[in-house]
Order: sequence, then structure tokens, then C-alpha cells
Amino acid sequence: LHVAVLMGGWASERPVSLMSGEGVAKALESRGHRVTRIDMDRQVAARLAEAAPDVVFNALHGVPGEDGTVQGMMDLMGIPYTHSGLATSVIAIDKELTKHALVPHGVPMPGGRIVKSEELFQADPLARPYVLKPVNEGSSVGVAIVTDQSNYGNPIRRDARGPWQEFEQLLAEPYIRGRELTTAVLGDRALLVTELVPKSGFYDFDAKYTDGMTEHVCPAQIPPEIEKLCLEYALQAHRLLGCRGTSRSDFRWDDEQGEEGLFLLETNTQPGMTPLSLVPEQARHCGIDYAELVEIVIEDALV
Ligand code: DAL
Ligand code: MG
Repeated sequence: LHVAVLMGGWASERPVSLMSGEGVAKALESRGHRVTRIDMDRQVAARLAEAAPDVVFNALHGVPGEDGTVQGMMDLMGIPYTHSGLATSVIAIDKELTKHALVPHGVPMPGGRIVKSEELFQADPLARPYVLKPVNEGSSVGVAIVTDQSNYGNPIRRDARGPWQEFEQLLAEPYIRGRELTTAVLGDRALLVTELVPKSGFYDFDAKYTDGMTEHVCPAQIPPEIEKLCLEYALQAHRLLGCRGTSRSDFRWDDEQGEEGLFLLETNTQPGMTPLSLVPEQARHCGIDYAELVEIVIEDALV
């Protein structure tokens, strides 16, 4: 096959996407496919038309590669591509819209509300502790945990030019104490549950992409009923949102609250494919190596 690997772009997750894309491109080459690497820029449609690949592996993260924009362009061009389509991407990139799609069907997600960034400098939008996050970013970009004692990340009052000022809309959600869990779905199967145990602070951008900064416990050492719920909710989210290929759902679990303490935070339609990423790791535990995983996702795009 001739596969164009779309990566990079101008999202804040550009460096992550370049790592995902390069990993995918090398894996495809190792399996004898012809690969065209495309670092997405404004000329991406022309470059895709010129390359005329059989299929695109979308290794983009964030906006506009994960929010439906690039998907719609490829739909118009009639080029098959990996991962979720336009409508799914529009909903899943937005953590608030995702709640509207999942919560009525019984998938528990945290409450909270949308706040405009200028509101933040007047009052706390929720009782502390709470989490502030852009509605449509990934890799914990712009996330802050605001506690009574201190503010992890960037304090809202001390530095009025904190990163969220760049984001018009933010989501404020109650902070869920306890543990960080994640489950990948590949095809029609929820793989495993991984627990992420950062060496310090929370599972932020650095903890995600610096080797050794987070312990990955895979499979997670959690009660079987919690494991079962993570697998169920991840699969339910994948289906309700209409995800294709692979997705990864992230959870917080307050282990003092039992089953009631489990919340899905979001479903990622373009989960990371870097060497430290979680979908490849869970696939490996299930006997699927990285190159096979890439091949499965490509095959799924071609059916
Ligand atoms: N947003 C990053 C790439 C992830 O979900 O893995
Ligand atoms: Mg995410």
C-alpha cells in the first residue's frame, strides 16, 4: 500500500504528533509499505492530492486534525483515512459535547460547567478543589488543578496571564481524588486497564512524555468490578460516539467511593502512538506488537 502519514500541524500537541507519526511511518516501512510523510500545513489538500495515497494514516492530535476539520477535507477528497470520521471527531474533541452524548446513556462523567476565561479572575467557578481545562485540548495542555492549599499548574490569581487566557472557553470540573486509569478500544474490543502513577504532581504533559516520570501499571491492580466497568464504559463510549479503528477513554477513580467513584473524563479519537503511549502498550500486552497495531488500524480504514 501507499500510505500517507499525516502528522505535525500547528496544534499545541504538534511535537507529540510528530513522534506518533514517525513511529507509524517506520512501522509501515518495516512492513514493506510505501510511505509519504506529510507534516500538515495550509497546503495539505494539495499535497495529499499530489501524493494520491491509497489511504491516510492520521497521526494528528488536537485541532484541526482531531476535531473533524481534516476528516471533512479527506471525505471531500474521497481519500480513506484511519480513526474516527467527521461527526465523531467534532463531538469527541469537545469534552462538554461528549458529556451530552454519553451521560444520558449511563456513562458517568464529572459534573461541572463551562466558564469564560475572564470570569476566572473574579471568582472560583466551583468549590475547590476543581480542575480547569480547555474543552478541546489534549495531553493535559492548559490543565490546572486548583486546590485549597495551592494551585498545581498555573495559579489563577497570581498570574492573570495564565495559559487558559488563550482559551476562550474552559471547563471547570470537580477534582476527583484517587487514581488515573485508561482503557484502549481496538476494533470492537476493549483491551485492558492501565493505571498511571506519576512520580510527582499529576499526569500532566511532562509526566506523559518524559520516560520514567510516570509508572504505567498494566494491567492495573484494581478490583475486578472496577476493571469490568472501565472496559464496559470505554466500549460503550467508542460505540455511542461512533469511533472507528481505535480510541482510548481516560478515567478517574476515587477508590474510597467504590463503583460510584468511577468517572470517564474523555474519549480520545486520535490516541497517541509515541513510544510511551498507552494504546500501543495495551496492545502489546494483548500480543499485538506496534507494527501489527498500525496495520490493524489501516485495514480498518479500508473496509
Ligand atoms: N492526546 C494524546 C495524544 C492522547 O490522547 O494520547
Ligand atoms: Mg485527551
